[in-house]
Amino acid sequence: MRLLPALAFGMLMLPLAVYANDPNSYAQPDQVRVTHLDLDLRIDFPHKQLDGLATLKLDWKNPQAQSLVLDTRDLNIAKVEALGADGKTTPLKYALAPRDKQLGSKLTIATPRRPAQVRIVYTTSPEASGLQWLTPAQTADKKLPFMFSQSESIHARSWVPLQDSPAIRFTYDAHVSAPKEVRVVMSAINDAKHPLDGDFTFDQPHPIPSYLLAISAGDIAVKETGPRSAVYAEPSVVDKAAHEFEDTEKLIATTEQLYGPYAWGRYDILVLPPSFPYGGMENPNMTFATPTVLVGDKSLVSLVSHELAHSWSGNLVTSAAWRDIWLNEGFTTYVQGRITEAVYGKPLADEEALLSARALQKSIGAMPVNSQKLAPDPRGVGADDSLSDVAYDKGSWFLRTLELRFGRDDFDAYLKSYFHHFAFQSITTERMLDYMKPNLIEKYPGKMSMEEVKAWVYGKGIPEDAPLPDSPRFNAIDQQRNDFLAGKLAAAKLDAKGWNTQEWMYFLDRLPDVAPLDKLQQLDAAWHLTGTPNAEIGMRWYSHAIAGGDKDVWTAAAEHMTRIGRLYLTTPLYKAFAKTPEGLAYAEQVYAKARSGYHPMTQQAVEGIIAKAKSKKN
Ligand code: BES
Ligand code: ZN
Repeated sequence: MRLLPALAFGMLMLPLAVYANDPNSYAQPDQVRVTHLDLDLRIDFPHKQLDGLATLKLDWKNPQAQSLVLDTRDLNIAKVEALGADGKTTPLKYALAPRDKQLGSKLTIATPRRPAQVRIVYTTSPEASGLQWLTPAQTADKKLPFMFSQSESIHARSWVPLQDSPAIRFTYDAHVSAPKEVRVVMSAINDAKHPLDGDFTFDQPHPIPSYLLAISAGDIAVKETGPRSAVYAEPSVVDKAAHEFEDTEKLIATTEQLYGPYAWGRYDILVLPPSFPYGGMENPNMTFATPTVLVGDKSLVSLVSHELAHSWSGNLVTSAAWRDIWLNEGFTTYVQGRITEAVYGKPLADEEALLSARALQKSIGAMPVNSQKLAPDPRGVGADDSLSDVAYDKGSWFLRTLELRFGRDDFDAYLKSYFHHFAFQSITTERMLDYMKPNLIEKYPGKMSMEEVKAWVYGKGIPEDAPLPDSPRFNAIDQQRNDFLAGKLAAAKLDAKGWNTQEWMYFLDRLPDVAPLDKLQQLDAAWHLTGTPNAEIGMRWYSHAIAGGDKDVWTAAAEHMTRIGRLYLTTPLYKAFAKTPEGLAYAEQVYAKARSGYHPMTQQAVEGIIAKAKSKKN
């Protein structure tokens, strides 16, 4: 098997050295590993900061080690001390390196005596990259302030000093104090009946990687959706969310049937304000979710299937470095499809697979060759660089190919054994392949060769024989789109009354990049796309309308961009506006108003788009 030189070298020296190879962390897990985190946090809303006390339990790997190196970003370190078995503390010397733009500040703690525990007193910055602080006015119910974390990929270090690499797992417990009335939740078992007394405790007994560390606090109500599931959301949102997510128990039970017991106990969902920068985040026991999936018709519930699937692919078996993230996201997107098929039927699962496959076919050729690979050469790959459609959609396409070649029964058994075999471990692509070779490829000879597997994993583009599902409904939409564009079918005559969300997405996705203005206007007149409450449809529609020069949509597009901070739904509109000088000027105006409501990640992304457009202009 082709091993990357750096990884092969590490393996020869010491198996653990493989894990020392995370270029996105300063941690030195071959020297010492954090095994448990004990957190004491005070949520300070007026100052938009956490006052923290982090006690790290250490497992020294090198008996001669002289220091503990941690990841931090914009943390204010007040004190570092060693904690003896007798509870006595001894101050430790430490050095905080200058801030690296990507990695933050390396914290080197002098530990000549290799203490069993180290304790750090610190505060976070109001601009912490992994936290968003909202004033009451920025919430739905306007009563209390709100805050939430988003640690993936490398933002946990902006609110806790730790070894911020997915290769390192630790258990944690936490005590959090907050103003009364506020509910605090974390990525651990949450008690729906916890009194709102400003004093919360949590215990996560399973070892998790740092990117799954999560916290949120605010005016949060709870509604049960099943025997082991509930939704958490602002009071005015919680009923709608409970209705949208009422199938949660069915989804959990279905996944258990496929891949074995749900390992984590409860599965709750926290619906965040619309500034949440992602669709969903698979924080253990408590998925964090965007409210943009609350459409009222359960059409975007695949998000729950996806985040729930991570309870196996990702949270049980984790990619050891960001370069291997397709092991999380590709496997999860495949499992998501299986859950959707079992609960909502094959036609919908096929539509979702086709939507993503067609989008990937369109985009992959324009990417740098290294980014087209599932497992890219890690040199020069930043933490979020591997997080493109390739990880999700080429990854899941590869697994669907395996399923078709080996047959569903044998492939299901294989995948279940894989999750079991690597449960609570962090692995590289190469370890996954080492397991796949004897347990799938060689076990059922003649179905698929290792060369074909490697072409998927290390090759560019999409293999030519990659199988696509067939969707008669999508075929009919292709036909109608063609007829409409050719002038053979009026917009009002499109058979779109019964189109679901995915079918509208598909219709819009495959319009020309710059569609004729008159066609766009006819579409809008017939189907009232401007102002749609469905943000997936809105993002696509406004992108087309802006590109096609339909200025009538600008105000509604601006409203969408201001209300929604989810990167995937908002950045395409900035990009569409940035293509013309007038549009760019408008986008800058929109951003000036929207900025204070955006998450730091969204601010950074939008500022990048605007800066890039301006540099091209000059
Ligand atoms: N783990 C991801 C979100 C993520 C990835 C956050 C990388 C930060 C860095 C999550 O499981 C995810 O994939 N969310 C998707 C959901 C969709 C595929 C249903 C999203 O946010 O759009
Ligand atoms: Zn995911």
